[in-house]
Amino acid sequence: MEDSKVNVKINKGGPLLVLNTVTITHADGREEVKENRASFCRCGLSENMPFCDGAHKASDFEKG
Ligand code: FES
Repeated sequence: MEDSKVNVKINKGGPLLVLNTVTITHADGREEVKENRASFCRCGLSENMPFCDGAHKASDFEKG
């Protein structure tokens, strides 16, 4: 039986991690599959939205 539970982890001062395989449907309709985990930007500074590219590390983003 497949486990349908999806775990989401919020990294303090960093991205939101979805710990499962996910399909992302972009605004233009393009679909992208991330296997096992996906890291989404919460700080607004990524050059690779909606994904985290590590830019938060050089910022003062500290939201919980
Ligand atoms: S949370 Fe990492 S670049 Fe925004």
